[in-house]
Amino acid sequence: MAHSDDDAPKPLLPKLSRRAFFTGAGASAISATLVQTAAEAATAAAGPTVLGPEPEPLTLSINGRPTAVTVDPGTTLADLLRNQLGLTGTKVGCDRGACSACTVWLDGEVAAACMTLVLDTRGRKVTTIEGLAKGDELHPVQRAFVENDALQCGFCTPGMVMSCAALVDRNPKCTLDDVKQAVSGHLCRCGTYPNVFKATLAAAQAGGKGKGKS
Ligand code: FES
Ligand code: FES
Repeated sequence: MAHSDDDAPKPLLPKLSRRAFFTGAGASAISATLVQTAAEAATAAAGPTVLGPEPEPLTLSINGRPTAVTVDPGTTLADLLRNQLGLTGTKVGCDRGACSACTVWLDGEVAAACMTLVLDTRGRKVTTIEGLAKGDELHPVQRAFVENDALQCGFCTPGMVMSCAALVDRNPKCTLDDVKQAVSGHLCRCGTYPNVFKATLAAAQAGGKGKGKS
């Protein structure tokens, strides 16, 4: 029996030429861009969040604990730690980013506390030398510094330990060159570098990752 055109199966989708497809895709992309641009414009119109000049109340994460503080907007993290919170393990040598004595961790990465505004640590995890040990258990790098006599006057030592511990946690297979690179910004007037290298490599070889970064 002959079939009429009406009997022919109907396509499920409308015919779409290649040109029409790309034109439509372009239109969708433009619409998405316009929506995004409108959202960005609304954010821009609202303006940046202005903090200060009055002291700002903040809750920071310091050594794994929520810590309520009130700071002037220009307060550095080093100043807050030492002078408001009594965490004097973080040393201040130059107060201008040149000696690394004030090294702490921000979200597990090393940072100079004297060059960091407290306001910029909102929502980030601050770890200081006081927060490196877990209870009575020293971080392997702390232990290795003691065992390898890697300190003399000790002024640069907390910063050195923070940098070396970050390295060992990140790369337990670190080499001597890696250690030298990690402490390259640290000034030690007592000249402890050879034992700092030895201690850090010993901690790495002992497989020593800390118990976890707060
Ligand atoms: S005190 Fe921060 S780098 Fe010297
Ligand atoms: S141990 Fe004295 S400055 Fe490094």
